[in-house]
Parts: sequence; structure tokens; C-alpha cells
Amino acid sequence: MCGIVAGVSGRNVVPVLVQGLARLEYRGYDSCGVAVYVQGPDPAASGLRRARSTSRVAELAIQLEASGTSAGSDRLEGSLGIAHTRWATHGAPSVGNAHPHFSHGPGPDGSQRPGRVALVHNGIIENHDELRARLQARGYVFTSQTDTEVIAHLVDSLYDGDLFDAVKAAVLQLHGAFAIAVFCKDEPQRLVGARAGSPLVLGVGHDGQEYFLASDAMALAGVTDQIVYLEEGDLVDVQLGKYWIVDKAQKAVAAPQRPVRTVHAHSGAAELGPYRHYMQKEIFEQPRAIADTLEGIEGIVPELFDQQMNHAPGSNAARVFAKIDSVLILACGTSYYSGCTAKYWLESIARVPTQVEVASEYRYRDSVPNPQTLVVTISQSGETADTLAALRHAQAQGMDHTLTICNVATSAMVRECSLAYVTRAGVEIGVASTKAFTTQLAGLFLLTLALAQAKGRLSEEQEQQHLKAMRHLPAALQAVLALEPQIIGWSEDFAKKENALFLGRGLHYPIAMEGALKLKEITYIHAEAYAAGELKHGPLALVTSEMPVVTVAPNDALLEKLKSNLHEVRARGGVLYVLADADTRIESAQDMHVIRMPEHYGALSPLLHVVPLQLLAYHTACARGTDVDKPRNLAKSVTVE
Ligand code: M6R
Repeated sequence: MCGIVAGVSGRNVVPVLVQGLARLEYRGYDSCGVAVYVQGPDPAASGLRRARSTSRVAELAIQLEASGTSAGSDRLEGSLGIAHTRWATHGAPSVGNAHPHFSHGPGPDGSQRPGRVALVHNGIIENHDELRARLQARGYVFTSQTDTEVIAHLVDSLYDGDLFDAVKAAVLQLHGAFAIAVFCKDEPQRLVGARAGSPLVLGVGHDGQEYFLASDAMALAGVTDQIVYLEEGDLVDVQLGKYWIVDKAQKAVAAPQRPVRTVHAHSGAAELGPYRHYMQKEIFEQPRAIADTLEGIEGIVPELFDQQMNHAPGSNAARVFAKIDSVLILACGTSYYSGCTAKYWLESIARVPTQVEVASEYRYRDSVPNPQTLVVTISQSGETADTLAALRHAQAQGMDHTLTICNVATSAMVRECSLAYVTRAGVEIGVASTKAFTTQLAGLFLLTLALAQAKGRLSEEQEQQHLKAMRHLPAALQAVLALEPQIIGWSEDFAKKENALFLGRGLHYPIAMEGALKLKEITYIHAEAYAAGELKHGPLALVTSEMPVVTVAPNDALLEKLKSNLHEVRARGGVLYVLADADTRIESAQDMHVIRMPEHYGALSPLLHVVPLQLLAYHTACARGTDVDKPRNLAKSVTVE
């Protein structure tokens, strides 16, 4: 979703801004732009300049490179600037709606003043209509359909020589979620940032002599690894050589409360290496990601879930695990499906009643809070607006036992939960989540074992067996990845289809759902998943020879039931694509394509069965020529509601 980079320095910041935007591309966007304060030979030749594009960041870079070459145009370079990748919410993706936005206020004589305030924004301003009407009545002219432009005009309308004061006053009038970076042409060495509901970090560069703002630390990789994580409601005043933070109560924050952390954002993650797409790279990174996630785990101890970020003393997790009587999992999309898988583990192994809810539903529903419930949020990014809001909703209802399974140690999700398990998938760039999903499953399986242990439902011997199976996962995943050539064969059939069904039972029903989500997300083929037993209650009506039916068929207790479901499909002319275990007695036929998984994997089988489904979606998308890593209309990090 939208991304911000901004900087104030003694040097030209434009290359840093463009490089930062390129690093934020993975979040998804449909337009981009840069604005700088250009210092001309005299005041008349100085001021705000910008370049915007509905194409890729690379095209914007070409525009910037070409600036100043034609008569009358200024070269876009300067030591103060802001930049943005926009994922459209209010107003179509167009150059006019792209950020940065400039204020167009009435001058003292009633004429139109040239742009004074430049601003970029992530999030959604809910009261933008009301603010727009008020500002229009005062003579402000709007040139876009965005909610963002109102903030630029609002700051301008409150400006009286001090940008920080104007932004402080403006944010008090904003309802909704935002991260903003703003500068004013009258203060060409000052940048102001604010965050409320959308992430923003401060990067300290070159011995504290230059500063940057960005949506995440990765945008600043290679520029600085000295990062201050701003908290909800923070405002930051950045000037050349110094900065100043106030909190949501607009009180000054002492330096130890917002420490400068050394963050090794993996700039190498942005390299594709031998792969065609990030998604392919990330699918093949899964053995390594699981190995990293499990590294150093000698045994099941509650301390695995103690907060590293807040350095809370003692084992909070041990106390919480002994006390809780149920689990409530809150997540969205792929993370929701990992939660659905975990429900089977938590109830069968740990015997803890578990509920899984789509975060965007839970946050608005009247539910019955149980303070003895462990609320588990799952999120790759740790910044998903719906999941964060669901967490806060649960906390507001007195549910204080919170734990997150998250891939970003410094995210809001990790900071706001009392317990955390940080997966080590590494940066995931492809919009379609792959290695984040399997590492979430690994974390959730460990949580299951930890709860089972706390409840006295796990013997030493069982613990050792489970850990042995987990340690073998990287090798088992490697063997599954070797099935790629067979999956490519299937993808050639799927590329010609417009619909597909995915079936699974028990633990593998969520895997069927995840497989369908992957396929629809990047191939745009309509795909639906059903618990196989549901087939005859409706979806069977859809089955014809044109409807491929993918079935996840491990050799588990439900296999014979599943086989009956397969007969139902064949009897109606359906064509089956079956992921069977090595020892599943299902044979290939003209209407039955079988790929055998290398080994049967018991409770951890979902981590393996999902991989061929990821590969199927990936190769089908390649065959259809879609934008695999940046599918239409989607964003990597969904920081708006
Ligand atoms: O960052 P999160 O895990 O919280 O994101 C949740 C979903 O937006 C995400 O899983 C989405 O469904 C993926 N694009 C699916 O591949």
C-alpha cells in the first residue's frame, strides 16, 4: 500500500527519495511522485517543484533525470524533499491525484498563492468532505479527488510562520488513519512528520546531520540503519542537524523513550538472483525461512513467546499460558488461513477451544469478551489496519492476554501485543504471501506445543517427536519443491480456464482455501475452496469438464471420505488434480491427474501441501502473462481499512 520517503540533508536528496520509492514498490502502488524545494538564484526562482507519474518508479526516475533540460523548466533537485507511492483509495490513479499535493491558498489580495505546503500521506481521512467544504469556503482550490489534498490545505490554513505548530494543530482536526510528511517553502530546511494508524520511521543519517522519514526501514536500506520507530500519535519536527518528537498528548518525548535502533533492513532481499519473480524466489526460500524460524529452538519453552521488543523481565508467557482457557485468532487473508489451520492443531493437540475470526468482521461485531482468552493476531507485515484494529478492540474489551505471530519485529503488532513470536521469513516482496504463510504455520505449531505443555497435554516423548518432525521440515520442503516440473504441466491446463474449485478436508481445508486465494490473486481465475464434504450441498452443480477440481488428499483419517467426494466429481465429468501422499492409493487416469508428495507428514503436512498450490498459482500466472509480483488492485501491506 502507499509508501512515504522524505529527507532533509546538506546534499541533494532526490536520489535517496527515488531509491526509497523503488524499495517500497513491493507494497503495491498505482502512481508515484516526488516534490522538492528548489533553491533558485532569487526568491522568485525558488519554490516547490514536483514530478508525478502513473507509471513505475523507474519512469519517474527518468522524468526527474530529464528535468531542467528544456527551456523554462527547473532541475528537480534539492536538499529537502518528499516522495510517495500511492495506492488509490479516493480518486482514480491519475497524475492529478498522485502525491505530493501542494496547498493552493488564497493570497492576501484574494489572488491564488502558488504552492506553499507540500505533503504526502498514507491512510484515509474520514472527515475529508467536511474539511474540504470548510477550506473551499475560505478560498482554497482543490485540484484532485483525494482525501490527502485537504491535509495540505488545512496545514496551509493554520500556518503562521511555524510548520510544526501548523501540523500539530492540523492533526487534531483529522479523523482517520494517517502517516504524513510535509514541508513548507517558507522553511526550506524543515520537515515535519506525523503518524496515527499508519507506520512511519525516522532515519538518522551521516552522524545526525541528515534525517529521513519513511514508511519502513527497508526504504532507507543503504542510506542509514539508524532508525527511530515513531509511535501512534507521534509528531516529529526534523531540521538540519536536529529533531524533536512529541507524543499523542503533544508532550515532548525524551530520547530514551524513542531509542535509535540499529536495524539491518536486508537490502539484499530486493535482489532477484536467478529467479524470474520475487514470488518464485520466495517460494524457493521456504526451506531456509523455516530453518531460520526454528533456529536455536532446543525444546518447547514458554519463553519462546516472551516479548523481545519490550525486554519485559521474567517469563510472562509461562504465566499467561497456564491461565488462559481459550484462544481467539484474528487475522486477514493468508494469515487468516494459517489461523484456520492452527485451530485444528490447538484443539486436537493442546485441547484448547479455539475460534478464528476475520479481523475486519470481529472489530465491528458485538462479541462476548472472555478475559481468560489468549488473543492471537497473525500478520506478515504487522501493520495491517484491520488486524491492528481488531487487536485494539479486543484489548478495549478487557482481553489483555495478547500474542502475535508476526514477521516484522519492529512492527506495531509486535509492539502492541504483550507476547510475540517473530518469524524469520525475511522480507517478502511478492504481494502473494508464500514464505510468510509457512513460517506462520511453524510459529503456530510451536505455540500449540507450548500450550499443550502448559496444560499438561504433551509428554516429553511427544515433544521430542514433534520437534524432530519440525527440524526435518526444510529437507521435506526441498523435496516438495522438486515437484515443480509436474506442477508446470498442470499450470498449462489451468492457464486456459476461468474457474477452478479447490477441495480439502480437516487440516487441509484451510490449505485448499489458501490455494484458491493464491490462484485468484495472481492469475485472476475465479477460484473457490470447499470442505470436500460440502460439495454435494451446492458446488457440485458447477462441476463440468470445464471445471478443474484441485484436491488436497494426504493419507490421513479422512482419506476414504475424500475418495468418495472424488467419485462424485468424476461421475459428473469433472477433471481432478490431486495432490496425494506417496502411500495414497489414488491412480492417475484421463480425468484424474495425480502428483505424489514425497512423504507423508502427519500433523505438519499442511506446510508441505501448500507448496505445490503456490507453484500452481505462480506458473499459471506466468502462462497467462499477469504481473505476478504486483497483481492488479492489490497491495502488499494493507494499512487502510
Ligand atoms: O500482513 P498481513 O499478513 O497482515 O496481511 C494480510 C493479508 O492482507 C495478506 O495475507 C493477503 O491476503 C495476501 N496478499 C495473500 O497472499
